[in-house]
Amino acid sequence: MEISIKSGSPEKQRGACVVVGVFDHRKMSPAAELIDQAANGYLTDILRRGDMDGKQGSSLILHNVPGIASERVLLVGLGKEREFRDKHYLEAVRSAIKLLSDIGVSDATLFLTEIRVKKRELAWNLEQAVLVAQEALYRFDQMKSKPGEQKKNLRKLVLAVQRRGDLALGEAAVARGMAIAGGVKLAKDLGNLPGNVCTPTYIAEQAKALAKEFGLGVEVMQQPEIEKLGMGSFLSVAKGSDEPPRFIVLTHKGGDKKQKPVVLVGKGITFDSGGISLKPGAEMDEMKYDMCGAASVLGALRAAAELKLPLNVTGLIATCENMPSGRANKPGDVVTSMSGQTIEILNTDAEGRLILCDALTYAEKLDPACVVDIATLTGACVIALGHVASGLLANDDGLARELLHAGDIASDRCWQLPLWDDYQDLLKSNFADMANIGGRAGGTITAACFLSRFAEKYDWAHLDIAGTAWKSGKEKGGTGRPVGLLVHFLAKRAAG
Ligand code: BES
Ligand code: MN
Ligand code: ZN
Repeated sequence: MEISIKSGSPEKQRGACVVVGVFDHRKMSPAAELIDQAANGYLTDILRRGDMDGKQGSSLILHNVPGIASERVLLVGLGKEREFRDKHYLEAVRSAIKLLSDIGVSDATLFLTEIRVKKRELAWNLEQAVLVAQEALYRFDQMKSKPGEQKKNLRKLVLAVQRRGDLALGEAAVARGMAIAGGVKLAKDLGNLPGNVCTPTYIAEQAKALAKEFGLGVEVMQQPEIEKLGMGSFLSVAKGSDEPPRFIVLTHKGGDKKQKPVVLVGKGITFDSGGISLKPGAEMDEMKYDMCGAASVLGALRAAAELKLPLNVTGLIATCENMPSGRANKPGDVVTSMSGQTIEILNTDAEGRLILCDALTYAEKLDPACVVDIATLTGACVIALGHVASGLLANDDGLARELLHAGDIASDRCWQLPLWDDYQDLLKSNFADMANIGGRAGGTITAACFLSRFAEKYDWAHLDIAGTAWKSGKEKGGTGRPVGLLVHFLAKRAAG
């Protein structure tokens, strides 16, 4: 979909549809007022008759409104003006876009973007409208033999700003929204692809294709090179599968040569069966999403490149399958990580940390400004935070604050859990330097404690996205999170 920005009055917009809001108790938004005036009280009449009450979720489409250039006017209910927050705005835009695409309207000018959202600025409204619109029109039918019924889709969306002076700010917000949406779509597609298509080899091919299209640097390491690096922990997981592993290094060189890179590390388990500690069968299909951390790293780098962020960013992806076989890890096995630390594998299903720890050690070579890893790491995180917030743990509070803030403005929030030393004791092993699990209690925290032992040389944060990277149930599918959070984090760093 093509999205642009424009200033102008609603009654003069030509095209298929203008979209304006109405609050509870029939209170018109500024754009609705202008339409009403140009149409001699047409909207006032309709509201008085009660055809539209302004309740959140209500809507009314009008044709051939007198004095109005556009073919249609769509009224969208906004609910109580005093309570108009993020969620209400996002829902109003979403329902407008869904309605327009259901009707088959080809273009529309959205005036909902002028509405003041508590604590938010115009740029936020615009960027979020772009994201919500692209999200509402997302389809994944690559794997169907016949493409789904082709609706006449919304092809062109214009976002309105009241003042001409806001156009420049608006263009930047739309550009950022489009770049995030591109990264989100990439992450969703990779997540939604089945494990027999989206293999480690496939992810490496995607990284190369991305590098070519966006001018990123890329290096893909195969088994022999990974062995040479001494990534014994990563390889212990990979060797249980017939699919060969890959270690991917992607670089965006937007900053000056001497600037230390921000390093993003992604967990890329293309299918997590649990290994010998096999998972139960119910919903095991969802473990194709266990590469969503890796996908979000690709998505964030795509956006960083598209926005030409003046920042050096390096993405590291460790990708393999976790399968049971005669060569797979067994409970009780001891492996040696790239750092030299030994690990007793008490549960082969705690494989994410086993591949990430070597990627974190590799990151030391890059002399990073900071390192953020992103992983669908623990079921415990879903229990703790549900599907709303990603888990955040960090060895540096400044970095944690940056990520919390980025998540807030991206509407892609995370929430911090403690990484206190008190939890480290749970990883004690009788036979190696540490165990790979710490028991059921505080599972998200002990997983992060494990990782922290490989991230002592730099500022580091960990995002557990097990609850946020995809949706289960009827609407099963990847969400593209936390690409928005990551892009905002990088953009803020780039701005200095
Ligand atoms: N990929 C899973 C985590 C996961 C579980 C993500 C459910 C999303 C939904 C991870 O590899 C895993 O299996 N973790 C174990 C760790 C345990 C063995 C300590 C878990 O959470 O059960
Ligand atoms: Mn697992
Ligand atoms: Zn996993």
